[in-house]
Amino acid sequence: MLTPSKPLRLFIASSNEGKLREYRALAEAAGASIEIELLPGFDAIPPFEEDSPTFAENAAGKALYYSRFSTELVIADDSGLVVPALGGAPGVHSARYAGPGASDADRIRKLLGEMRGMTGESRRACFVCVVVVAKAGEVLGLFSASAEGEILESPRGNHGFGYDPVFYFPAMQKSYAELSREEKNLRSHRGKAFQKTLEFLLAGPEGRPA
Ligand code: IMP
Repeated sequence: MLTPSKPLRLFIASSNEGKLREYRALAEAAGASIEIELLPGFDAIPPFEEDSPTFAENAAGKALYYSRFSTELVIADDSGLVVPALGGAPGVHSARYAGPGASDADRIRKLLGEMRGMTGESRRACFVCVVVVAKAGEVLGLFSASAEGEILESPRGNHGFGYDPVFYFPAMQKSYAELSREEKNLRSHRGKAFQKTLEFLLAGPEGRPA
């Protein structure tokens, strides 16, 4: 178990409640003395425009931008679902795949519609997550991970958020939405990327950001 000398406070720059819940559970599961809070005033800050072609650039851009509104450590992530048979879509556009104002159900409907008739290897997909830690306009670390799976023909399960009900995860033989939060966190793209982030942040006096 990783035990820093004093609790570490991390501000998350995200309006996504599902992500915030997962990050808190991850920190708790690591037994780490970490407080994870939404960046104070986040809703009043003009939103960062995520218009880069890669998850890494979007995550780094977001972390850098929002870290200028705080003196504490800020983490931001960019994540999404990549379907090679759709040319990588929804990819960096996962959150906006069905246009502004659309719901998770709308996005799932669109994805299943685009994949109608596709079978076997064509249904392969992966979730990607890049987490970036920044402080006062400086990037301190970037950590990425992915999780391989396939897109189901129809939704399964009631947990999680986003595309979880249509992402079948062979490693657990269930859809992401059929997993408990703990099960998902253990092996998910976000779980693995955040584990790496925690290892970096809690690496001890030399490795730990001041
Ligand atoms: P962003 O990282 O806030 O730009 O949004 C990423 C989008 O990708 C989310 O709004 C979801 O639609 C999707 N996504 C990312 N991670 C997950 C996940 O763990 N489960 C389901 N959908 C996800």
